[in-house]
Amino acid sequence: MSVEEAHSAIVNPKGIWWTPAGRTEKRWITIAFIWCMILFAMMPFWHLKGGQNPTGIRSKVEPQKFLERTEKFVADFKVGEEKGFPVVAPPPGSEIYMLARTYMWYPVLKLKKGVEYTLHLSSLDLNHGFSLYPVNLNFQIVPGYDYALKIVPNTSGDFRVICNEFCGVGHHMMVGKVLVEE
Ligand code: CUA
Repeated sequence: MSVEEAHSAIVNPKGIWWTPAGRTEKRWITIAFIWCMILFAMMPFWHLKGGQNPTGIRSKVEPQKFLERTEKFVADFKVGEEKGFPVVAPPPGSEIYMLARTYMWYPVLKLKKGVEYTLHLSSLDLNHGFSLYPVNLNFQIVPGYDYALKIVPNTSGDFRVICNEFCGVGHHMMVGKVLVEE
């Protein structure tokens, strides 16, 4: 065999250079394949049955437009102020807004327990993470997209909105507030 042949990917090497897969190898490939299919099927199954991936209503939105909607929402239903932030108490069943920006959540929401709202979330500048503490709720907040969720608060209390996506020097101070009344 010449040097060219030995180093070629096109010319077959001489002699027996491969053997068909043995019984044990075929068995393991079959097991691995079936397991892959089970995991694959679990994704849609868990989405529908797991109850942990809420289906949001997504739409594109210019950050400026979302800011205008939020400002209008604040002007319409503002009931007070807390540390310079408006406290907004929207009527039951309404569209409610929360805006993420470096490094704040705006405004403070005051909601009623057992009432449905459509919560719109978006960012003005960059990626933030909406994490409702101590409830285990987490959403990525992406600028340019309005992520709306149908929510029914089922616990009254004073909740914190914590940013869970690293967004800059003020990330750890990016804390918002949601109040739920009986
Ligand atoms: Cu916003 Cu981290």
